[in-house]
Amino acid sequence: MRVGVIVTAAGSGARLGAAVPKALVTVGERTLLEHAVARALSVADELVVTAPESHLEHVRTLVNPLVEQSEQRDVETILSVVRGGASRQDSVNAGLAALGDVDLVLVHDAARAFAPMALFRDAVAALESGHGAVIPALPVVDTIKRADAELRVTGTVDRSELWAVQTPQGFRRELLERAHTEGAGTGATDDAALVEALGEPVQLIPGHEDAFKVTTPRDFALAESLMAKGHFDE
Ligand code: C5P
Repeated sequence: MRVGVIVTAAGSGARLGAAVPKALVTVGERTLLEHAVARALSVADELVVTAPESHLEHVRTLVNPLVEQSEQRDVETILSVVRGGASRQDSVNAGLAALGDVDLVLVHDAARAFAPMALFRDAVAALESGHGAVIPALPVVDTIKRADAELRVTGTVDRSELWAVQTPQGFRRELLERAHTEGAGTGATDDAALVEALGEPVQLIPGHEDAFKVTTPRDFALAESLMAKGHFDE
């Protein structure tokens, strides 16, 4: 089955306070986007990157050589760089519209730059085994409380039912397209939520701690130090 990967990199990185979009901040010698794309290429027949309008050319210049030099697969990956939207959901929609002939779609946040290739392969394998929607997840380790506006605790949530989800999230293409059409404008923070809203099953697969979202300066420091130690396995 042909696999398309949408790498979302159109966020402004406002929380980070950097001068460039977060996906274009470097860790080691490469931007987060390049780290993410290098790994996504392990499964991508087609790759769509959503970029901020101001950085479309820059993103093309960064990603194109990775695609051309990729020796991970025998086939040539088709690359598109498209303008992202105002929200992540709008960006994924723009990415979906740019996909050509693919059966399966993985949606991956550039900010989860170090998600290992094995996670991409696991997601594709789970889809090929018959699931319509699969998302990597790790059990929540903290005890989670509910609280009211005055910060008074109103309850403790049963942690055994809670999962922290990551990307790449994988879908049969037609299911993801239907989910995005019917869920347009709902501001979902991940794609699986749109599939859930259709009442269709979503399957968890084991996530990976390297797939953490690089968001704050502390996350960048952690990523730098793990990279310097040679920790990240492509
Ligand atoms: O802001 P947040 O970290 O939740 O964004 C998750 C991912 O979605 C990031 O990789 C970001 O670049 C991307 N994004 C996007 N278009 C937007 C907002 C976020 O592609 N409008």
